[in-house]
Amino acid sequence: MNIQTQPFGKLPDGTAVELYTLSNESGMIVQIMTYGGTITSLRVPDREGNLGDVVLGYDSLDGYLTKNPYFGCIVGRFANRIAGGRFALDGVTYQLAVNNGPNHLHGGLVGFDKRVWRAATGRSDGAICLALSYLSRDGEENYPGNLYVTVTYTLMRDNALRISYRARTDKPTILNLTNHTYFNLAGVGDILDHEVMINADRFTPVNEALIPTGDLQPVEGTPLDFRQPMRIGARINDPHEQIARAGGYDHNFVVNGTPGELRLAARVYEPTRGRVLEVRTTEPGMQFYTGNFLDGTITGKGGVVYARRSGLCLETQHFPDSPNQPAFPSTVLRPGENFHSTTVFTFSTRS
Ligand code: GLA
Repeated sequence: MNIQTQPFGKLPDGTAVELYTLSNESGMIVQIMTYGGTITSLRVPDREGNLGDVVLGYDSLDGYLTKNPYFGCIVGRFANRIAGGRFALDGVTYQLAVNNGPNHLHGGLVGFDKRVWRAATGRSDGAICLALSYLSRDGEENYPGNLYVTVTYTLMRDNALRISYRARTDKPTILNLTNHTYFNLAGVGDILDHEVMINADRFTPVNEALIPTGDLQPVEGTPLDFRQPMRIGARINDPHEQIARAGGYDHNFVVNGTPGELRLAARVYEPTRGRVLEVRTTEPGMQFYTGNFLDGTITGKGGVVYARRSGLCLETQHFPDSPNQPAFPSTVLRPGENFHSTTVFTFSTRS
C-alpha cells in the first residue's frame, strides 16, 4: 500500500495542482488530481494479469482545462439537471446558473469539477485514503449556504475504490454529489460489447431536455431492462422513445433496495479482457450514461481519439431535478445535519 504525490501543473491564475498516486499489493493503481478531485487514471489487471488503464481522460492538466466532458471528476453541488436552474426552498426561489440550454447541469458554470480541492492523506485498516475538501461559499453558482464538503477516496486491498462524501451547511440548501468517471474496461474502442447488469426495476423517464417527467417507470419490456446482464450494443439504437431522445442510454435508474444501505447497483463485464466492475452505493439512484455526446473531437490519453460511446458512466446519485419533484427522495440539507453517502467501485476478472 503506497501513496505518492507530484505536481500536475498550474491553473492560469497560478494555483498549483497536485496528482496523488495510490497503489495496493494487488496491482491496482489510481491517480487523482486536486483539480476537480478528478480520477485521471485507474489501472487494474485483466484476466491475464496485465495492468490497463480503464478510465478516459487526458495526459496533462491542459486537456482538462481546455475541453472537458466531466472526465473522472467530482460533480456538485448538484449532479445532473435542474429544470430552468430554478428551485424553491422554504418559500424562497433560487435561480442558479444555467449552462445546459435553459437548464442547470452538474453544478453550473464553475462546479466542483473546476475547483481545486485541499488534500490530506491517511491510512486505516490496511487501506490508504485521500481526503479532498472544499468550502463552497454562500452564493456560489447562486446556491444558498456555506457548504463544506469532504470527498474521501479509499483504495482497499481487494481492488475496490471507495468514495465517501460528507457535507455540512450553515443555511438550508440542496446537494447531490457524484463522480463522473468514464469507464472502458477494455481500455480502448467503444463500450458496445460491455455487458451490463443494473439492479433496478424502475427508471425515471425524461422529456426532450433530458429532465425527469416525475414518473417512476418499470424497466420491464423496455430497452432499459438490465436486470439480466445484457450487451450495451444490443438495444442502444432501439427506436424506443426514451433511448432515441437521449441518443443512447442517459437515464437515472432507481436502484433496488433501501437508500442509505450499501447495495449492488450495477455489474459490468468486458469479455475480451475479462475485467468486471461492480458498483455499490447508498444513493437512491444511478445515472447510466453511454458517452453519447463524445464525438471524436477529443484526443485523450496516449493520443487516443474518444469516439461516440467510447466510455460509460455509472453516476450514483439522487434523482435529477429532485428539488422540483416532491415525490423524489429529498436533496435538502439543513444546518446541523451531516450529509453522508458512499459508493464503492470493485474490480475483478473472470473467464
Ligand atoms: C451526464 C448527463 C449527460 C451529459 C453528461 C456530460 O451524464 O446525464 O446528459 O450531460 O453528463 O456530458
